[in-house]
Amino acid sequence: MKIIVDTPENIAKMAAERYVTLLNKKPDAVLGLATGSTPLGLYGEIVKLYNEGKISFAEAKSFNLDEYVGLDGTHDQSYRYFMNENLFSKVDINPDETHVPGGKGDIAENAKKYEEMIAAAGGIDMQLLGLGQNGHIGFNEPGTPLASVTHEIELTANTREANARFFASIDDVPTHAISMGIKSVMNAKSIILIALGKNKAEAVAKSVKGEVDVMVPASVLQLHPDVTFYLDAEAASLL
Ligand code: GLP
Repeated sequence: MKIIVDTPENIAKMAAERYVTLLNKKPDAVLGLATGSTPLGLYGEIVKLYNEGKISFAEAKSFNLDEYVGLDGTHDQSYRYFMNENLFSKVDINPDETHVPGGKGDIAENAKKYEEMIAAAGGIDMQLLGLGQNGHIGFNEPGTPLASVTHEIELTANTREANARFFASIDDVPTHAISMGIKSVMNAKSIILIALGKNKAEAVAKSVKGEVDVMVPASVLQLHPDVTFYLDAEAASLL
């Protein structure tokens, strides 16, 4: 596991460079993408590089980590909407090659199909992750089995509270989500995790220095051969 500590601005730039390098080498790369406030700086940087003609997604495919159950892509808090707004509509990726797990309809069936699509695409080349305050990755809450693939999950009270700031009230935060599993994430060829701010420091410390424990899902990343944690000083403050 590689750990890089820098300012949020430099982290966004360094992480964006990872996409430039990957897409130069493999224009049809399969990208595992993430939502939340953390990747916004990175997506802004990627859009800037795209506008400068330094990166193209024309042949790339993407698979997002997760989606709320019950929200369709037109809901402004759905992760599909977030991705369209913050990245997909601003670069040259083919919209048909952008995938977000389906939060409506038969969730078990959507999950099964999602894994099949990732496999058919050849697997994920680089997976981007944020970090939940309780150490979750995607929506894999503490206790999610190592062998999990895309599945429906009940959100913890902690996660619903943390995400309530985006909704009118906590009652509007969905109770369930569909998320790639721990195994789906670990199958990626390389992984980059970004964590910013003091409220991530404890989860970062447990994930990096603690024992590998399914109760801290991100600690499992210690077992992956190619992981980089990009942290600001606050997120790294307990290391
Ligand atoms: C949500 C998402 C995660 C994300 C986490 C942290 O729970 N499902 O993928 O990493 O929030 O969000 P933020 O980056 O806003 O702190």
